[in-house]
Amino acid sequence: MCGIFGYVGSREDAGSLVIKGLKKLEYRGYDSWGVAVQTNAHIEVSKDVGRISGVDHEQFKHSSGLAIAHSRWATHGGVTKQNAHPHLSEDGKIAVVHNGIIENYLELKKMLQKKGHTFKSETDTEVIPHLIQDLKKDGMTLEDAVRAACQMFTGRYGILVLDTETHALVAARTGSPLIVGVGEGEYFIASDIPAFLEQTRIVNYLDDGEMVCLESNKAIFRSIETGKEIQKRKIEIAWKVEDTEKGEYEHYMLKEIMDQKESIIRAVHQDEEQIMTLAKAIKDCVGCILSACGTAGKACMAADYFFSIIAKRHVNFVPSSEFKIYHHFLLPESLIVVVSQSGETADVLEAMKTAKEAGSKVLAIVNVEGSSVARAADYTLLINAGPERAVASTKALTGQMAVLMLIAYAVAGKLNEGRMALLEAGAKINDMLNPRYIDHIKGIAEVLHHHKDMYIIGKSWNYPMALESAIKIQEVSYIHAQGFAAGELKHGPIALIEEGTPCIALMGNDEVTADMLSNIMELKARGATIIAVSPERHEIFDHWIKVPDAGPAQPIVNIIPIQILSYYLAVLKGKDPDMPRNLAKSVTVK
Ligand code: M6R
Repeated sequence: MCGIFGYVGSREDAGSLVIKGLKKLEYRGYDSWGVAVQTNAHIEVSKDVGRISGVDHEQFKHSSGLAIAHSRWATHGGVTKQNAHPHLSEDGKIAVVHNGIIENYLELKKMLQKKGHTFKSETDTEVIPHLIQDLKKDGMTLEDAVRAACQMFTGRYGILVLDTETHALVAARTGSPLIVGVGEGEYFIASDIPAFLEQTRIVNYLDDGEMVCLESNKAIFRSIETGKEIQKRKIEIAWKVEDTEKGEYEHYMLKEIMDQKESIIRAVHQDEEQIMTLAKAIKDCVGCILSACGTAGKACMAADYFFSIIAKRHVNFVPSSEFKIYHHFLLPESLIVVVSQSGETADVLEAMKTAKEAGSKVLAIVNVEGSSVARAADYTLLINAGPERAVASTKALTGQMAVLMLIAYAVAGKLNEGRMALLEAGAKINDMLNPRYIDHIKGIAEVLHHHKDMYIIGKSWNYPMALESAIKIQEVSYIHAQGFAAGELKHGPIALIEEGTPCIALMGNDEVTADMLSNIMELKARGATIIAVSPERHEIFDHWIKVPDAGPAQPIVNIIPIQILSYYLAVLKGKDPDMPRNLAKSVTVK
């Protein structure tokens, strides 16, 4: 979480430039914001609670070529102006922004307090500039002091340090992403590429355990452990600026839902040889475990069904936050498939670490090229959904499911059949996402948005989509929503149903349709209002959202109307679907 953006170079408007770029990273944290600009030998700091999007960047047009900025997702200390970053050293000459958690900060704080340092915030971050100042006073250079400080930290962090004495930026990472943008006589550094995509598409990735010292005309990368210089490869990013804008749409969430007209088809266009190699790895391994978090985890749960039904093969899903407990089962012959939109989720990276320690191979399915997960994996497949900015994951989910389904078909020796089924589903989704369809779902949202509770049921591969529907509704509209396996209702949850309780049923035209209809009847008999997402209409439905019959791709198709419904539930309740409360786009803390 948290957005970081810094600039060093010949421009004179570094302050407004970092504020403008930071607005593109707001999805990473939006509790509070702050900026530090070097003017002459001073650092001018401005910060406040609230969102960066409302801040006028023009007011930061100091004549300066050195600035850092931050948008916060609070971990240590409440959402206050005092706790907002940047934080300064005792002498005010060093400013720091930080993403992650310094776990031993209390110990370091006590040590510094004994030396006379005073602290103004409740954050773990504030120890960083104080510690660097303390180390510098013994004659260390800024770079050495940052390196020595990092060696004293436990936890995961990405830090960016501005120092008035050296006119340089020093950044270091262990666990939280930082990417250097390379310009002509200038460098940018950010926790995600959109911050500087207007200025440059050439990047250097900072890896875990690495640091970089940036001056306007040079970037020196080193290992934090040894201090040895590291040569970095320059990479050109394929994303275009337009891909990261919301264009004609009011919110990113709606734009990204509509992007699914094409993104599923892009996901299917995978290199055949690579898919066949991965299919072989799955066939040859001794135990294949899928792991991910949140929505990506629901894609993995759907894949359990794809592998079982299409490939007659058992794979297991384990949430990444629970993965460590599974190390007892891991073998060098095990294959772990991790799925992540951002490729920066801390729990996923931790699961990969556990897998690697057991000698197991890791396949990553990610959206963000060059992300930490992509670089740490043995094999990587990109879903090519394009940048996803809304906190609620939509097009990444359907891209992930498409790739997992394609692999299941490849394992079954039917890659072409799978490709055709997915391309056909993609074409049907393209037809489905028309204005009349969207309006129909908006009309249902108008009926439902005053309700406090909603339940969603599904069977077979629609069961994970029922769970995913609940995540979508909860996170953007704050309506209490719960998903169930349809057959589980009568084992407890049916006690919650009252006259008029909205129940959404996700259905296909398949071997479980008759069972689903029975479960719906049970709900109806207790007074539930039935909203069905189904290829066929049945008279017991109160509201019907028609979806194309898509065979094994049915869960991919069925989740899309629920994404639209969630979006309108949020909008009708006056909530911002792009930046829901308490959340951030990529969860880089455990
Ligand atoms: O970037 P990742 O796919 O690893 O993120 C995983 C979850 O944090 C993410 O899917 C989250 O659940 C979304 N906000 C759901 O819409």
